[in-house]
This record gives sequence, C-alpha cells and structure tokens, in this order.
Amino acid sequence: MKLKNTLLIALSLLMTATVPSLHAETPEQKAERMEWFSKAKLGIFIHWGIYSSGKTSESWAFHNQIVTLEDYMKQREEFTAANYDPAYWAKLIKESGAQYTVITTKHHDGFALWDTKAGDFSAVKSSPAGRDVLAPFAEEVRKQGIKLGFYYSLIDWPREDYPNIYRKGPARYDIHKEPERWQHFVDFNFAQLKELNNTWKPDLYWFDGDWEQTAEDWKAKEIVAMLRETNPGVIINSRIQGYGDYDTPELGVPVTKPQSQWWETCMTMNDSWGYRLDDKNYKSDMVLLRMLVDCISLGGNLLLDIGPKADGTIPEEQVAILKEFGRWTSKHKEAIYDTKPGIPAGHVQAYTSLSLDGKTLYLYIPYKPTENIEIKGLKSRIKDVRVVGNNEKLKWVRYNDISWSEVPGVCYVEVPENVLDEKITVLAVDLEEPIKLYRGAGQVISFNDYDD
Ligand code: GLC
Repeated sequence: MKLKNTLLIALSLLMTATVPSLHAETPEQKAERMEWFSKAKLGIFIHWGIYSSGKTSESWAFHNQIVTLEDYMKQREEFTAANYDPAYWAKLIKESGAQYTVITTKHHDGFALWDTKAGDFSAVKSSPAGRDVLAPFAEEVRKQGIKLGFYYSLIDWPREDYPNIYRKGPARYDIHKEPERWQHFVDFNFAQLKELNNTWKPDLYWFDGDWEQTAEDWKAKEIVAMLRETNPGVIINSRIQGYGDYDTPELGVPVTKPQSQWWETCMTMNDSWGYRLDDKNYKSDMVLLRMLVDCISLGGNLLLDIGPKADGTIPEEQVAILKEFGRWTSKHKEAIYDTKPGIPAGHVQAYTSLSLDGKTLYLYIPYKPTENIEIKGLKSRIKDVRVVGNNEKLKWVRYNDISWSEVPGVCYVEVPENVLDEKITVLAVDLEEPIKLYRGAGQVISFNDYDD
C-alpha cells in the first residue's frame, strides 16, 4: 500500500513537472496567440453525424428519450456521405467570408467522423460511408487557408463506461465509487483527443458537455496541457471548466460587451444544429447579417451553423445564406476583419466599430434611412465620410460647433439612396486623430463669445 502511494505521488509529481503551466503565458503572448481569432469575426460551425438523416435532434433525442437509443442509432444506416464534396464545403465556407470553421468530430452520441482507433463507433466502422470523412475536409480547409476547428464532446452518453445515458433515470454508476471504470472513460477521451491532435494539429478545439462533470473529474487541466504540449498555439473554447481561452454565449448576441476580451456567439440558421427534415424556420439572411455586425460592434465573432444532410449535401437554404454572407463580406472587408469594438450606444442609430488605429469609425446601417444619419458627441474632427464598398464620399455638416463648449455639436451625414446596400450599408467616418468622444450630460453657458 505504502509503495503504491509513493509511486502515485511520484507519478503525479512527474505529471505536474511535464504539464506546461497555463500561467506561463504573458497577456501579450496570449493576445498574439489569439490574434487570428480576434480578427476572424465569422466562423462556420458544422454539425454532421448520424442524426443528419434529419429525423431527430443531435444526440439529445435519445438522451431526452424522445426516441429509443436503438431507433436513434438506426439513423447511422443513412449516413452514406455519397454526395459529400469536402472541396465544395471548404470553398463555400471560404466564399462566405468566414476565417475559420468548427466541425463536430464527435457529438454526445459518440459517433466519430474520423477513423478512430480508440473506439469502434465511427463513420468508418459503423456507417455505409465506410471511410474517414474528417480527413478530406481538414485537407480542403487548410488548402483554402481557413483555420480548422474541432468540436469534441466530452460526454459520450452511449458508452458503458460513461456514467449516465438518459437525462432522467438512474445513472449507470457513480464515478467516485467506481474510479477505475471512470478512468477507463477518461483514458478513452484522452486517446481520441491525442489522435485528433497528433493527426491534424487543429487551430481550435470547441469542447462541449463539460457541465456533466467537474474539471477534476474530466481532467480538464491535463487535457488542455496534453493538447498544448504538441500544439502550443491552439485556441480552446471555454466549455472545459475554466481552462479555455474564450467565451461561447449560445444562440444570442450579448447586449453589452462581454467581460472576456475574446468571445464568439454560436448561432443556428433555423432552430436546429444538425439537419432536420421538418425545420424550415430559417432566419433571413438579413437577420443573420445583423447578428454578424452586432458581434463585430461588440468585438466578438459569430459562429454560424450549417447542418449538412447524411449524404453530404448542404441544404439549399443554407447555401443561399452562405452566398449572401459572401456577397456582403467581400464588399465590406475593410469594416470587418481589422476592427475593434465600436463606441457606446447613444451616439448614433447604428451598429459601430473602429479601425485598429481608432481613426476610422464604421457605421453599419441595417435600415433605409429616411433622413440624414446623426452622430452626437464626436469630439474628433472629421476628414471624410465614405461609403465602404464603393468609396463614394458623402456630404456632412456639423451643427452647434461652439468654441466655448466642450460639447462637440452634432454631425449629420447625407446618405443618398443610390449608395445603399440592399442589406446593411456601411459608412466609414475618417477622423484626424484616434477617436475622442464627449460622454457628458451637456453644458450650461458660462460665457458667450459669438461676437469674437
Ligand atoms: C449545446 C448542445 C449541442 C450543440 C451545441 C452547439 O451545447 O449540447 O447539441 O452541439 O450546443 O453550441
């Protein structure tokens, strides 16, 4: 017993010694590592698995006992990937203006898209696709110069060594009473993650399902350390119990800027992550583009989801949305990637962002203005107001620019109908200096120099 304990202590000391400390990174180094992510603004999420036959939701359908596990698993017979064209997927993603993509390598149902040696449940061994469908996608994504992200579910409900399968009902076992059985599962997660990491060195991991166990039980710290050991630049989302790099508010754009410097809102195009035969409740491209500029104005990214069908085709509604994103993002590049969060609400009736040097204020106008656009509290002098995408200069005036007052007057920009974008018009207000704002409550006159 004593010997066993000493061995265990020695082993854990050895592990901590080889685990690179998460705190070794300075804020500057982290900012550098996060640079591509903070400039990306748009990513495409892909939910693809046996649920893509379209009959049930991804994994939750059996977990919530909407269908039996057996019926859920039968869907694998339809996962043919017969019309799967990874080069087309990657091209479509690239053309949408997205800078990264995140694909479900394995959802909570445990079905792996790659040829995993750690388990038997995969596209290769358990579906008519009969091949690794992740490898060719990873290759095409990299060819297009897009960053590659892997969604990986920590949960694997169907496995016998995972403690619970259904939301309601008794657990299979208690992980603290049967530590070896739990360790078996933890080893399995490590083995799969090692495969993914060693084979593809993805640019990002998107963990999910961390809410079911504690960080200690998942071995969250050790997972992150293991991934970083051979893939030091990798970015990790927050769903790994405090060991991630950025926040993932889900299905809603925050109203105020999140505390964390890096964040991403993940969003469905309709009401489902994976393909659903009966879900036609698509948001319009305008609604989704608004969400994109909303994220940009708050300094975050939009991770927009698509759900390809089991044969690998992407539903036409989703293709159309990606194409419209492509039209809008290619026209407005200047006001997307090299930007930082905009100015507080109340200065202008529009979403805003700033160029990285702070000398250009971008206004995203998601409506047809019936009047001039008003900008209040802008202390900096304006050089020009331009329309992004066609560089036309616009007329503007500043009223009440009073020398004795620190309140900078109000600017009005004329926006003729012919410069409007069909969805969201973007104006660039070029300033003579990095932006300065007046944020006060107005000023009472103390002297009047009108006659000077
Ligand atoms: C949730 C769900 C999951 C989905 C994910 C995407 O965590 O568990 O089904 O894949 O959100 O953000």
